[in-house]
Amino acid sequence: MQKEINKVLITGVCGFIGSNLLDYLFEKTSWLIDGVDNLSTGNKKNIQHHLNDSRVAFFEKECKDLTSLKEYDAVFHLAALPRIQPSFERVNEHLEANLNQAIHLVELMIQDKYYPRLVFSGSSAIYGTPEQIPTPETEKVDCLSPYAFQKYEFEKYLELISTRFPLDYISLRYFNPYGNRSFNPDNPDNAYSSVVGIFLNRKKAGKQLLVTGDGSQKRDFIHVADLAKANYLSAIHPEKINTAFNVGLGATLSVLDLAKLIDGDNFEFIEKRDGESDITFADTAKIREVLGWKPSMNIKEYLEGELIS
Ligand SMILES: NC(=O)c1ccc[n+]([C@@H]2O[C@H](COP(=O)([O-])OP(=O)(O)OC[C@H]3O[C@@H](n4cnc5c(N)ncnc54)[C@H](O)[C@@H]3O)[C@@H](O)[C@H]2O)c1
Repeated sequence: MQKEINKVLITGVCGFIGSNLLDYLFEKTSWLIDGVDNLSTGNKKNIQHHLNDSRVAFFEKECKDLTSLKEYDAVFHLAALPRIQPSFERVNEHLEANLNQAIHLVELMIQDKYYPRLVFSGSSAIYGTPEQIPTPETEKVDCLSPYAFQKYEFEKYLELISTRFPLDYISLRYFNPYGNRSFNPDNPDNAYSSVVGIFLNRKKAGKQLLVTGDGSQKRDFIHVADLAKANYLSAIHPEKINTAFNVGLGATLSVLDLAKLIDGDNFEFIEKRDGESDITFADTAKIREVLGWKPSMNIKEYLEGELIS
């Protein structure tokens, strides 16, 4: 049995993960899909191929300008300013985008006494440099950046508010996503986007890869289609479970090894950046067991495909 769904909302639909989620849901389901995006870091070109589809409607607006969620059976909340380094500098702007706008969605639910399944895009950044490797959801929280803290705060608000109101939510703590559209050249914060996208972009432009620190930091790279699948399975889960799941491959690759895979010895080291974890490595037992999710893409195969094309 699965939860019945007719219509959903994707916030941040013009971003990297939002646009891939739209592709996935469009293929996989017959749902009606609304998307909102304020185009602050996203690009309408990412969803251009869906703009004439009768099942899809796009609204250029802020999440905070939504007035009701009553027509939706599920809301995928992805809209955010998701970069660690800029979150140290423009703290209020990030607080507004990452926390206040998300809370607005919850207030709409309370206002209308209507609680669609909320699938929130959380982050493994909340574990900082974790003690348990691989890292389960029970790991202590250790936010190394305002961005990580804002992601954690919203999860905590969901937990607190659901003690008074019947919220129905799942938080997906993504590890290190990669895949089509991860690098938006028009985004002023693109230097801090997924390292896979940055490296591939530099390689295609004939530029040397820049490895931060000594490159020994390890990342659990997860393909965006596998994240989309986790969102889908969260939406259709038959019960309200109000919990968080790790979404990662459950394996790591160092940034240095990634650089070598992409461009051999054509790299140089640059200064380490504060606020970034030494290792991300997901323990995915919980999402495998509860949602029946498992990853289907491997980074090495993906890179081979990208480097041939
Ligand atoms: N990419 C990663 O490395 C990563 C890792 C963990 C978690 N996440 C989370 O996944 C989600 C999607 O990330 P992404 O990589 O696709 O980022 P992205 O920047 O590509 O997409 C975010 C989208 O949200 C839109 N947006 C921002 N503020 C908005 C607002 N107030 N109202 C409406 N739209 C708004 C942007 O224009 C953009 O299109 C985010 O919540 C992010 O925190 C991303």
